[in-house]
Amino acid sequence: MSLTITPVTPTFCAKVSGVDINQPLEETTFDAIRAAFDEHLVLIFSGQPMTDAQQITFSERFGRLEGTKGVNPASGTPFARQSNLDIKSGEVIAADDRRMFYQKANMLWHADSTFKPTPSLCSILTARVVPPAGGATELASTRAAYASLSAGQKAEIEDLVVEHDFVHSRGVVGFTFTDAELAGMKPARHRLVRTNAANGLKSVMIGLHAKCIVGWPEDESRDLLDDLLARATRPENTYSHEWRTGDVLIWDNQAALHRATEYDTMHHHRLMQRTTISSGIRSNL
Ligand SMILES: [Fe+2]
Repeated sequence: MSLTITPVTPTFCAKVSGVDINQPLEETTFDAIRAAFDEHLVLIFSGQPMTDAQQITFSERFGRLEGTKGVNPASGTPFARQSNLDIKSGEVIAADDRRMFYQKANMLWHADSTFKPTPSLCSILTARVVPPAGGATELASTRAAYASLSAGQKAEIEDLVVEHDFVHSRGVVGFTFTDAELAGMKPARHRLVRTNAANGLKSVMIGLHAKCIVGWPEDESRDLLDDLLARATRPENTYSHEWRTGDVLIWDNQAALHRATEYDTMHHHRLMQRTTISSGIRSNL
């Protein structure tokens, strides 16, 4: 069995086969996976069903795991649960339940944890229960968005700082937090332009949580963020993953965006478990 990396689109995403990621990985094997991640931004493994313990073991190869806090039902664990099933009873959650409303923002283009002062390197999402239709995950490349800019545009944005705010992003879909939930939440500032340390390739950290460019007038700020998002989500820079049980996806949270698509939440079941790996690099902005 030899590790095989097969690109899925001309610009990003690759399928990985020839490796059992539930088994202890040799250093050289993991290094090849990590190099493929840096090159392709999104890696897809099929037919590798994981338990929670196996997912944690594999995820920790990439770095320290974030702990989940706040409204997510898996709060207090290393998992962010994406599901229409009650975590205790396993029953379908009513469509008008606050927990389902909270998940609506996942259907808009975003990267995970960009609102934290220490942003995430990557997320790993495993498919535990998959609906028969819908519930795909779409991905987009902000590395491609950066590459599409002219030299002048690249120079103009090189030193910009972007503010990411979770209260802002949930507010876009009309979700409001209680005072207790708001305690301790504050925006984070990051360099807009990111550079992959392994290969020097640049991307932009944008998406739903990106509220504004620091120091810019609101309309110009919004125009730039919207333009970059439009570039990232051009059809040639996107990929839609139709899930099968046992699929595992890894995506870069500093050079790729993602969003979930609709499914029949009242009649079908969907359970995805996400681990989020910290970049370990805290912003000092
Ligand atoms: Fe997400």
